[in-house]
Formats: sequence, C-alpha cells, structure tokens
Amino acid sequence: MKDPVRVAVTGGAGQISYSLIFRIATGEMLGHDQPIILQLLEIPPAMDALKGVIMEINDCAFPLVTEIHGSDKPEEAFKDVDYALLVGSKPRGKGMERADLIKANGDIFSVQGKALNDHASKDVKVLVVGNPANTNALIAANNAPDLDDGQFTAMTRLDHNRAMTQLAQKTDRQVTDIEGLAIWGNHSSTQFPDLSHAKVAGKAALDLVDQDWYANDFIPTVQKRGAAIIEARGASSAASAASAALDHMRNWVAGSNGQIVSMAIPSDGSYDIAPGIMYSYPVICENGGYRIVEGLEISDFARERMQATENELREEREAVAHLMS
Ligand code: NAD
Ligand code: LMR
Repeated sequence: MKDPVRVAVTGGAGQISYSLIFRIATGEMLGHDQPIILQLLEIPPAMDALKGVIMEINDCAFPLVTEIHGSDKPEEAFKDVDYALLVGSKPRGKGMERADLIKANGDIFSVQGKALNDHASKDVKVLVVGNPANTNALIAANNAPDLDDGQFTAMTRLDHNRAMTQLAQKTDRQVTDIEGLAIWGNHSSTQFPDLSHAKVAGKAALDLVDQDWYANDFIPTVQKRGAAIIEARGASSAASAASAALDHMRNWVAGSNGQIVSMAIPSDGSYDIAPGIMYSYPVICENGGYRIVEGLEISDFARERMQATENELREEREAVAHLMS
C-alpha cells in the first residue's frame, strides 16, 4: 500500500464539496490504490455542518480514507497538504456575473495563498474552483512567493466538459469521439470555447457543424451555461463542478493520455496573451505536470475572442491589485 497523501478541500460543508469529497474518498481523483488524509476547511458558522459531513464520511467506511480533520484555521487545514482544492467562497445568484464576486471572495484567496505558502507541502498542487476562479487563483499565487506560480491553477474543465457534450449532441456522437477542443481565457461569459482544432470521430468539427450554430448557438450556450443552471436549479452547479474538479486534478496528477484538456494556468506569453494573468489554455498533462499545446493556428475569429477574454482578466487583475503582495 502507498503512503497516504494529504488533500485539503475548502468550503467542506458547501454544495460542491458534498459531491466532491465523497468522490475523492473513493479514489476517483488520485487512484484506487492511494490512501488519503482529508483536511477540510470551513468558516466558524459552518463548523457544525462540517461536523455532520465528517460524520457521513466516517459512516461510509471508505477503505482509502485514513484520517479526516476539520478546521476553521487555514494554517491547520493546509498543514503539509499535497493537494489543495479551494472551493470555499460565495457563489453568485441570479442576475450576477462571476466578476461581481471579486469583492466578496478576493480576501479569502490572499489569506489562503499565504497559508499555503507557509504550511503546505512545497510541491502542493492547487486548484481554485471558487469564483471568479481565474483571478482568485492569481491572488493566491501572488500571496505565495515561495511556491511556483505554476502550482496554482483555476478550473475551466467544467466549461470544457460542457462544450464536449454540446458538440457530441449536435453531431450525434459520444463525448469519447471528440478530441482537440479547448477553452481559452476566463471562466466567465467572455470565455472562448474553440472548435477550430476539434475533431469528431477523426473529422474536423467545423466541417460537421455550420458557422451560424458555432458562433450563435454553441459559443453562447457554453459561455452562459453557469447562469442557465442557476436559473433552472435556483443554485449554482455543484455535482458537475465537483466532477470537473476531479477530472482536472486526476489529469494533472496522472496525465491526460495525450488528450488536450483545458486548464487556467499562469500565462507565459504563449499565443500573445499577456503574462501575469491566469488564462485557460489547451494543455496536455504528463509526468505530473502540464504543458501548453503550442503552434495551433489562430484565425481572426478566434483571435478577437481570445483577446476579449484576456482583456476581462486584465481588468479583474486591476480590481484586485490591493490584494497582491
Ligand atoms: P456553497 O455556498 O454551497 O458552499 C461554499 C462553502 O464555502 C460554504 O459552506 C461556506 O461556509 C464556505 N466558505 C466561505 N468562505 C470560506 C472560507 N474563507 N474558508 C473556507 N470555507 C469558506 O457554494 P458552492 O455551490 O459549493 O460553490 C462554491 C464556489 O465555487 C462558488 O464561488 C461558486 O461560484 C464556485 N463554482 C465554480 C465553478 C467553476 O467551474 N470554476 C463551478 C461551480 C461553482
Ligand atoms: C458555473 O459555471 O456553473 C459556476 O461558475 C457557477 C456560476 O456562477 O456560473
């Protein structure tokens, strides 16, 4: 049996966590042979609810879970963690954009970035789910000077998965027939879900769908899917967000089998995107890391959309300048 690894999940008593933690505990994130120590963070008013979640985890008798800790102190919850999933933060309600959460949630990520810097494993892999995810990840990375910026990522895998299903349904195929699709930019309504390099069962996706569907149906549907879920459910996506978080972390740790996936990562100037923001790129995960897929041809249509979402991220960065170290 392997030695246990430490996994922190923040917002342990929230909606997403209620799906996420139980699936981590079954081995869906790190493998069915990897024992886990769970370190769950909440705020003081939610500690009773967290206690209830921990009781339920115990009641599952998960063979892989060797210890469970709940805390309202980031320095305890992040102590020696190998993986940190930063979910805890306020979700948006009807009629809000995710950027409206910057004021409410930004502070959380400066505190947690510092605590990760001081208490987590030096190799910690961090996924930010809490919105606005890209900019929260930027804040956390900036407040962790002893960690590499590349250890911080934000989640656009839910957008990627949404786009996969939209395309599969349109072309009457399965998601397993699709490859090469990518989300560029922000996890927001400016994101660019790009089909230019996608293939469906080996055929170019853009030869199978018409441009009108792509520009006026597919792209806005994926961009606005979070709002559509809020409208329908009265609460933001939870089980699908948890599922995407597992996909993101599992691929980062174990590789993506040569497949392109989408991750928001520190921009390095690739594709002329300004460095200093967390931008979603097409990446391939291998050897416990990720690399941007370079050399893709970018049309004028794509470039315009890539820039629009870059501009939004630069504006968000301006709005949180006071939280950067
Ligand atoms: P929720 O309100 O059900 O749960 C959030 C939990 O976080 C609550 O239990 C709250 O007490 C806790 N929390 C708040 N501040 C905290 C802090 N400082 N430290 C630790 N815990 C804290 O919300 P949810 O539905 O689970 O969503 C969580 C976040 O994830 C929201 O910001 C939401 O918008 C975001 N989200 C992102 C994606 C994505 O694709 N990136 C998808 C879905 C939801
Ligand atoms: C989503 O995409 O479902 C989440 O980011 C929640 C939201 O606010 O849309």
